[in-house]
Amino acid sequence: MKIQPGTPCLVTGASSGIGRSIALELAARQARVALLARTESALTDLAEEIAATGSEALVVAADVRDETAVQTAVERTVETFGGLQVVVANAGLGRYGLVEEQPAEHVETTIGINYVGMTRTVRAALPHLLEAAGQGSGGHVVGVTSSAGLIPHRLASAYCASKAASNAYLAALRLEVLDRGVGVSWICPGIVDTPFVGKAELDPEADLPRLARLLVRTLTPDEVARATVRAIERNRAEVVMPPMMGLFAWSRRLTPGFADWLHRKTG
Ligand SMILES: NC(=O)c1ccc[n+]([C@@H]2O[C@H](COP(=O)([O-])OP(=O)(O)OC[C@H]3O[C@@H](n4cnc5c(N)ncnc54)[C@H](OP(=O)(O)O)[C@@H]3O)[C@@H](O)[C@H]2O)c1
Repeated sequence: MKIQPGTPCLVTGASSGIGRSIALELAARQARVALLARTESALTDLAEEIAATGSEALVVAADVRDETAVQTAVERTVETFGGLQVVVANAGLGRYGLVEEQPAEHVETTIGINYVGMTRTVRAALPHLLEAAGQGSGGHVVGVTSSAGLIPHRLASAYCASKAASNAYLAALRLEVLDRGVGVSWICPGIVDTPFVGKAELDPEADLPRLARLLVRTLTPDEVARATVRAIERNRAEVVMPPMMGLFAWSRRLTPGFADWLHRKTG
């Protein structure tokens, strides 16, 4: 579907990084954008920035783990914008560490936000997207997942699991809704320059696979935002980026044993 002036959208994780860039990219096309995250002050600043460009933004602060809060945020968006056509489920975080050293709550938090939170966002938005599609306007679901959902790597077991589950959920959803006029995309970036790495207490030099660090360039959040809007407009299912990460993902699907051996040998 085409993003047009006035297209009603909702972006989760809009207070920072990739979600913030996606909200700005949508607003640059005069879409109306509801901004969801927990940090209301950052959302208010972004809404003012968007309003200054002549576009419309709405702050709907919520924690994606709270089903009622997400439902309320979606309802407020629909009331204010008169409908909802695009939902971008992007909120997420990383928790890194060896399996035996990770506290149990890291697994629960990671799955709770990245996967269950994403499904709560999608479930709250979907009836409105289907309604818009039924009226001929079209609808689209985007999940910002990760290449980690396609290529498992050490120290990131819960994160990889949360993103693999998200990819599978969105692929299954696409089969359910595509013929009813709603597109579904999952965006799988490699490393992106956002506050994510700092919040994850991740040491990229030590904790990320050496081959990926050497061969895959770091993306900017704006590049991911542009790819997201392209995926909506071209109704692309899976987007792996940058292209070198796409090559890694493709080779792991083809020869998982060799890819994992290489990962073990190269660190
Ligand atoms: N950066 C990377 O290298 C990279 C690579 C691949 C995929 N990704 C994925 O891209 C997405 C965005 O990450 P980012 O890099 O932009 O990181 P970021 O700058 O840390 O942004 C994360 C966003 O998620 C929100 N969030 C976290 N927990 C939330 C919750 N419980 N409820 C509502 N919002 C919540 C945060 O807002 P509040 O804290 O205000 O709630 C923030 O807006 C994540 O799903 C991440 O897994 C990132």
